Amino acid sequence: MVGAGPEINDGEIWDPLGFSKLFDRNFDFNMVMTYPHVQWLREAELKHGRVCMLAFVGMVTQSFFQIPGEPQEPNYWKALDACYADPVGRLGVVQISVFIALMEGKYFPEDAWVGQMDREPGDLGWDPLKFAKKPGFDLQEKQLTELKNGRLAMMGVASLACEHVLPGSVPLLSGAPALAREAGPAAPVPAFCGATAAGRAKAPRTQAKYTTQTILPALAWIKTGFKESDLAPTELRAVNLGGVDVLVGKTEAGKLFCVGNLCPHLGTPMSEGADVIGDTIVCPLHGSSWKVGDGELIDWCPSPPIIGPLTGLVIEKKKLAIFEARSGFFGGDIEVQVDTNAKKAYEADYWKGILDAQGKNDGTYY
Ligand code: FES
Repeated sequence: MVGAGPEINDGEIWDPLGFSKLFDRNFDFNMVMTYPHVQWLREAELKHGRVCMLAFVGMVTQSFFQIPGEPQEPNYWKALDACYADPVGRLGVVQISVFIALMEGKYFPEDAWVGQMDREPGDLGWDPLKFAKKPGFDLQEKQLTELKNGRLAMMGVASLACEHVLPGSVPLLSGAPALAREAGPAAPVPAFCGATAAGRAKAPRTQAKYTTQTILPALAWIKTGFKESDLAPTELRAVNLGGVDVLVGKTEAGKLFCVGNLCPHLGTPMSEGADVIGDTIVCPLHGSSWKVGDGELIDWCPSPPIIGPLTGLVIEKKKLAIFEARSGFFGGDIEVQVDTNAKKAYEADYWKGILDAQGKNDGTYY
């Protein structure tokens, strides 16, 4: 078995607790099959090692690099909360969970407990880049490398968790660069995994740039730049007016309307292929539909079968945003009434939520 090879003493496996002999002790007591075969233990070791390699890279990377527009939380301990606070983030968690469940089911190590698995532990037959077929490829050496890196990663992740929960419990991590930064000028800056490092306090990165004040609406009629006669029945045109994405169109009967361009389900632009049927607008992605007159929901995520309804489950059903539209008195341009402070208010709310999630604002967002 790989890992019990070149680095052992005179052919002696290093196994002080006798895990490799557990299986032979079955039926010793009460004639009961209790202990796993070493195949099961190796499968578990490899799986934990792989998960921890991914986890370690993820924990360190997301502390320094974050995807713009996605929930921002440098503290890996609170990152999942920030993800749950975002509807698209919640959907991502569902997708990941479903994917893991499917993979676990497909590659379940059947009969490994009794040492009769029909594959090598950890060998899922997955080698999309065909490394194993390259000349000079030494499979055993790579397996040993993976095993060692996996063991190291398990220790790394366990250390990060210990240092976070009990600051100072992993002395090597106490002086390392900060992973979890806290805001507030007077707040001490936590070092790697939560321990406090003196003298490295930095100015908060968010409060100086964004406001968390309450922003009041400022309604204004804004010209779209085209006339009612430019639109055919059922035609739609997307415009951004004062920072608000809207969709101006006509019903089949030729009545002018204006709705929010972002689908209330996932926030995707309906201008990418939405249909107007009668006085109803239908989202191109999962087929949700709303009345264009009052935004009343008619159908929520009916397609494609199974996937559409599943994605709809995790997001609260909502009405479609409706805007007043009219033909301008001078020149006949279509004008739409929008809140020109909407973008500012959204950003203020967004930052308030993020800061509250981190315990840095007044805590009234939730
Ligand atoms: S994104 Fe519009 S219905 Fe799903």
